[in-house]
Amino acid sequence: MTLLSDSAVEVVHPERAPTTRRYLMCEPRYFTVEYVINPWMNPDEPVSTDLAVAQWTALKETYETLGHTVETIEPAAGLPDMVFSANSGTVVDGRVLGSRFRAPQRAAEADHFRRWFLDNGYRDVVMPQCINEAEGDFTWTGSVLLAGTGFRTDPGAHAEAQEVLGVPVVSLQLVDPRYYHLDVALFVLSEARDGRPAEVAYYPEAFSAGTQRVLSRMFPNAVIATEEDAVCLGLNAVSDGRNVVLPVEATRLAAEVAQRGYNPVMVDISELRKSGGGPKCCTNELRG
Ligand code: ARG
Repeated sequence: MTLLSDSAVEVVHPERAPTTRRYLMCEPRYFTVEYVINPWMNPDEPVSTDLAVAQWTALKETYETLGHTVETIEPAAGLPDMVFSANSGTVVDGRVLGSRFRAPQRAAEADHFRRWFLDNGYRDVVMPQCINEAEGDFTWTGSVLLAGTGFRTDPGAHAEAQEVLGVPVVSLQLVDPRYYHLDVALFVLSEARDGRPAEVAYYPEAFSAGTQRVLSRMFPNAVIATEEDAVCLGLNAVSDGRNVVLPVEATRLAAEVAQRGYNPVMVDISELRKSGGGPKCCTNELRG
């Protein structure tokens, strides 16, 4: 793949300026696959917790090298999916809407994260009434909150998010069980800013026909991902507006975002994918 040099990017795409982010992550110290709540999980397949920790550590260091701040929460024994901190809460402008998990096996995570937010200076923390898997299903575009439903987050949580966070919410219907959360079917490459619209990448087949029409109206210039991009969880990517952290297998998608002036940064998350997770699932953005 041909990458533009930094100076070439500035000339061709002056808008590809990264912004410094703050993320919340949770070490996979107790990571295993011992129950099945999505089609990626198979308890008969061996999992190495040490390898998961090594891959997670490399992801964390990748963010730090890119200049971002990573906060961590202490993992809890008996909660093997707690590494997926994207499901911890939705934070916009310093307001936090906590989570409420669909699967009983993950239910106890919500309160660990609620306490983290309170202990770390967040005053405005509201716990949802409806099933709400946070950034698994909620994606901030800079102007609206895209909200997935179909497998995990209840549609009622969308209205709750709009009321609690005070931002417009657009509901999107997921239809393919492999893409059970919005963040495995769509990600934001760059947020709406200074009159420029947000740029996103998504896999149309993960969504209902009506939602596909909504997405093509809202994002006529989106990167349209292929099955090959989606099936390695390539859409579970994290962008700072310039650098796009992607699973190492997502080479086609990486080449396409590079063409648009982004800088793909590849990470190996093979062990976490055994639970249906990728880079974004391990990363919750703390906005404000
Ligand atoms: N095993 C976890 C579950 O099914 C994976 C969660 C991945 N998180 C995400 N944001 N997509 O709940």
